[in-house]
Amino acid sequence: MSVIDISDQEFAQFQRFIYEAAGISLSPGKKALVSGRLARRLDRYQLGSYAEYFRLLTSGKAPAEVQTAVDLLTTNETYFFREPKHFDLLREQASAARRRAQPFRVWSAASSTGEEAYSMAMVLADCLGDGPWEVIGTDISARVLARAHAGHYPMERTKNIPQAYLQRFCLKGLDHQQGTLLVERSLRNRVQFMQVNLNAPLPQLGAFDIIFLRNVMIYFNGDTKRQVVARVLSLLKPGGHFCIGHSENLHDITDAVRPVAPSIYRKP
Ligand SMILES: C[S@@+](CC[C@H](N)C(=O)[O-])C[C@H]1O[C@@H](n2cnc3c(N)ncnc32)[C@H](O)[C@@H]1O
Repeated sequence: MSVIDISDQEFAQFQRFIYEAAGISLSPGKKALVSGRLARRLDRYQLGSYAEYFRLLTSGKAPAEVQTAVDLLTTNETYFFREPKHFDLLREQASAARRRAQPFRVWSAASSTGEEAYSMAMVLADCLGDGPWEVIGTDISARVLARAHAGHYPMERTKNIPQAYLQRFCLKGLDHQQGTLLVERSLRNRVQFMQVNLNAPLPQLGAFDIIFLRNVMIYFNGDTKRQVVARVLSLLKPGGHFCIGHSENLHDITDAVRPVAPSIYRKP
């Protein structure tokens, strides 16, 4: 693959592209990341510059390529049981809701490849069994959602899953699947994944008891954060909990929720 330089002007075009598509603000330091991630697309179409690839994206002639570029420009790092305090809260709240008639509903609002949503589902299956509960995972990237649906992961990414849950909810790959883990079908069937852009009006998802919006706000500027958080919190039930990433904060972003612990908020 030949190495093609990206100019400042071309980088600015992609900054605008991903801001308009996903609300993601790329700092000038991300120039190498953009050229590195998009290089194989130039190669794929035999294009000689990033400006030509940008023209392809904005020509209206390659709608699927727009999704591919969004997929490549999003950062999807995640793992099972990330930030364990949030899963302790989930367990507490689900246990308190045990005898309730309505379903206990939780949302992984930037689910990436699904580890967060399946971690939630393991806790709810453990606390609420066959009772009424729902987990919804959403993301803007079609590529990560396909992996979330499959629920099939390299073993090294699953080390935070508690031993009892590994035995109960996961299948270890054998033969050519060795070194991988598959989330068991009955658990997979209880988690619904769908494509949702948090930076646009939301579809009808219903109201939630707990929402995780973790490690995605870091990519947004202040205005985008305010709009996304307002949209997401409109779907949180009164008394419901909202969890954000440990490196994120809600200063000057919203007063619709009150802090109850670091990175955990509650709607009055
Ligand atoms: C770093 S991952 C976080 C995954 C998980 N929440 C966690 O904390 O481990 C960020 C995810 O946000 C998604 N994302 C970025 N912008 C988005 C948007 N506007 N709407 C929905 N998802 C978005 C990316 O595709 C990516 O999968």
